[in-house]
Amino acid sequence: MGLSIVILAAGQGTRMKSELPKVLHKLAGRTLLQHVHDTAEHLQARDIYVVYGYGGEQVRETCADLFVNWIEQEQQLGTGHAVQQVIDDIPDTDDVLILYGDVPLITAATLQRLIESGRESGFGLLTVEMENPAGYGRIIRDGSGGIVRIVEQKDATAEELDIREVNTGIMLVRADLLKRWLASLDNNNAQGEFYLTDIIEQAVNDGIGIIPEHPESLVEVSGINSRLQLADMERYYQLVQAHQVMRQGVTLADPARFDVRGSLQTGQDVEIDINVILEGEVTLGNRVRVGANTIIRDSNIMDGVTILPNCVIEESVIGAGSRVGPFARIRPDTALESNVHVGNFVEIKKSLVARGAKINHLSYIGDSEVGINVNIGAGTITCNYDGANKHKTIIGDNVFVGSDCQFIAPVKIGAEATIAAGTTVTEDVEPRDLVLSRVRQFAVKGWRRPEKG
Ligand code: UD1
Ligand code: CA
Repeated sequence: MGLSIVILAAGQGTRMKSELPKVLHKLAGRTLLQHVHDTAEHLQARDIYVVYGYGGEQVRETCADLFVNWIEQEQQLGTGHAVQQVIDDIPDTDDVLILYGDVPLITAATLQRLIESGRESGFGLLTVEMENPAGYGRIIRDGSGGIVRIVEQKDATAEELDIREVNTGIMLVRADLLKRWLASLDNNNAQGEFYLTDIIEQAVNDGIGIIPEHPESLVEVSGINSRLQLADMERYYQLVQAHQVMRQGVTLADPARFDVRGSLQTGQDVEIDINVILEGEVTLGNRVRVGANTIIRDSNIMDGVTILPNCVIEESVIGAGSRVGPFARIRPDTALESNVHVGNFVEIKKSLVARGAKINHLSYIGDSEVGINVNIGAGTITCNYDGANKHKTIIGDNVFVGSDCQFIAPVKIGAEATIAAGTTVTEDVEPRDLVLSRVRQFAVKGWRRPEKG
């Protein structure tokens, strides 16, 4: 007996007022669909199916790396119709778990409970009590409390609208039964749609007693229908993450101004100031300090690093004890070894900077290797691009580079060389040499500046 998971994701999401299909909107940096998929992956399913429709091509392109079966629903004729598109692909003996692409925070633990209870009783239904159930299908029970059917908001009587128990839409049904019940759905209802919810009544008629499961919290089953709800859910999600990192030994200046859009690993005694955004896979070692307004993406920040405010660091490694910023930009494929100092208005790209090196002011270092304890003066630029190709600059250990130098790559500077301020280095430099290429200073005596006529 296997498990098939069907994620319904064909709807447009009119209330998002967006060209982007709803399930492609992002929560904490991942699409809504990806969230549901990632949770589904924990359930050991035989197969995961995604029913897509609106914005089909875009959905498939954006989510091309998801390992799922794509099922197209050309016209969105209702949730029942959506499941009809996929049911023939699923073996009769499988249990089918229905998930919604726009309900991103459902947890694997809740679904696991639903699967277990549903397998036992023959039908798993996830319901929840809501203060304000507007918009949801209501759960109708008979005099003895048994579930008999679900009525949609638009089809409900005034009395039914008072019911607080609602359908989350998430359910577990055995495939052969689902197939049979789907075959006799009709669309005689207020919306002219084939409602998946109508199978409840059929199940009850077939003598199946439905004992619902409930989520741990309401947010698990909250759907996204508008940008307002998306923003609310984002803040909720971020706060949960903030609390989690604080429990792991991180000090956050303000948990409400902290965003993780990916996965974060942290050491102890990390301190993070306000408005820090961490994207992709980020590791912050012990005692790392991150200044305000800093963005770090897919990077490894090692023990004891201090990042001063307003830095952007992407796909890089910052070695232990280094200090970066304020206002530094570290671009992909950069590795700073230990105790490197990178200061304000410095951009480093695709470079290896060895331990103890200092690049403190207003420099561009690209496609370079910078040796141990090298000192690079203010305003130094590696001219790595000739308009067609990129070239390397290699600077040996203990080289001293004065201010305002240019390295016309490809070029190699031997260890312990000294590059005088204002030098344009066009040829390789021997170890321990001093090179300078600036014109000699001269004076014009008593020079008179032009005056306005
Ligand atoms: C549905 C349920 C309702 C439940 C609510 C929970 C039905 C008839 N109603 O209502 O009882 O309280 O969800 O959120 O099932 N979809 C498709 N193809 C379609 C129609 C919808 O794939 O033809 C997908 C949507 O993309 C969405 C999900 O199914 O992910 C739910 O569709 P939606 O139109 O939002 O259903 P509701 O009216 O909210
Ligand atoms: Ca909905």
